[in-house]
Amino acid sequence: MQIFIAGGTGFIGKALIRKLLQENHSVTALARNSDKLGDLSQHIRTVVGSPLIAGSWQQEVASHETIINLTGSNIFTRWTPAAKKMILHSRVASTQNIVQAIPAQSDSPITLINASASGYYGFCRDEGKYETDLPGSDFLASVCQAWENEANQAQGKARVVLMRTGIVLGKNGGALATMLPAFRLGVGGKLGHGRQWFPWIHLNDLSSAIIFLMDHKEIHGPVNLSAPQPVRNEDFTRYLGKTLHRPTFMSVPKFAIRLALGELSSVALEGCKMMPGVLLENGFTFRFPEVLPAIEDIIG
Ligand SMILES: NC(=O)c1ccc[n+]([C@@H]2O[C@H](COP(=O)([O-])OP(=O)(O)OC[C@H]3O[C@@H](n4cnc5c(N)ncnc54)[C@H](OP(=O)(O)O)[C@@H]3O)[C@@H](O)[C@H]2O)c1
Repeated sequence: MQIFIAGGTGFIGKALIRKLLQENHSVTALARNSDKLGDLSQHIRTVVGSPLIAGSWQQEVASHETIINLTGSNIFTRWTPAAKKMILHSRVASTQNIVQAIPAQSDSPITLINASASGYYGFCRDEGKYETDLPGSDFLASVCQAWENEANQAQGKARVVLMRTGIVLGKNGGALATMLPAFRLGVGGKLGHGRQWFPWIHLNDLSSAIIFLMDHKEIHGPVNLSAPQPVRNEDFTRYLGKTLHRPTFMSVPKFAIRLALGELSSVALEGCKMMPGVLLENGFTFRFPEVLPAIEDIIG
C-alpha cells in the first residue's frame, strides 16, 4: 500500500514507519527536517515541507491510499499562552492542510488516519470511557475536539479514523523517557494519591493497531488506542520500581507537581480509564494487554 505520513519524524512515527517497511508498504514522509528520519530516509520517499504551511507537498497526497497524520507539538512543556496556542495550532493547521490536499474524487478509496488522544475524554474517575462517550471540558479535551472536527471535514472524500491514543510506552522516547531518570535514581514515586487511571499502550501494539485500522476498511470514526487493562498510577509506579529493582515508597505531593507543572499538572494528577472498545469488537489482538510484561519488554 502507498502511505503518506506527516509527523513521521517523531517517537510514534519512526516506529510506525519501521513496521510499515517490515510489512512491505511503501512510505512517503513529509518532514520539516529529513535528517530526523535517520537511517529510515534510505528506505522511504521524503518530501520536505511543513504540514502547518500549505504548499507544493499537498500535490503528493493524492497518489497515496492511506494518509496518516501524527503532527503535534509536544504537550509536556509549561502551558504558557504561546505554548497552548502552538499545541492547538500544530494539530488543527496540519489536519486542515492535509484534508484540503485530499482530492474530492480518486481512482481508489482514500483513508485518513488522524491522531487524537485519550485527552478527548477529559478527567474521569473510575468509569471506563468508550468511543461513544462525551468529551471532557478542559484544555486538552477542547484541543482534541477541534483536531477531530478538522479531520472529519474529509468525510465524503475519505474514510476517516480518529486515533484517541493513550500514553504510549516505548524505548527511547515518550512518557517513559521522562519518568525513567527519577526511577533509576530510586526517587520515583506515585503522583499525588496515585489512584488516577493511566491509559497506556505499548508502542509495538500501537503500530500494529494503526496497520490494523488501515486494513480494516469497515472501521471509521473514533478508535481508542490503549491496552485493555489500564492501571492506576500507584500500580504503574510499583511495577516500574519492581522492574528496575528500585524503591518507590516516596510519593510526589500534589502541591509540588502543581508548582512544577502549572496547568499541565492536571494531566499527571487526574487520569482517565479509557477502554479500547472498537479495537476489541473488531478482533484486534494486543501482544501486551498487561502493563508489567510491557514494562519488562521495554526496559528489560
Ligand atoms: N506519545 C504519546 O504518548 C501520545 C499520546 C497520545 C497522542 N499522541 C499524539 O500522537 C502524535 C505523535 O506523537 P509523538 O509522541 O510521536 O510526538 P513527537 O515525537 O513529539 O513527534 C511529533 C511530530 O510532529 C511534528 N511537529 C511538532 N511540532 C510541529 C510544528 N510546529 N510544525 C510542524 N511539525 C511539527 C514533529 O516534527 P519535527 O520532528 O520536525 O519537530 C514530529 O514529526 C502527536 O500528535 C501526539 O499529540 C501521542
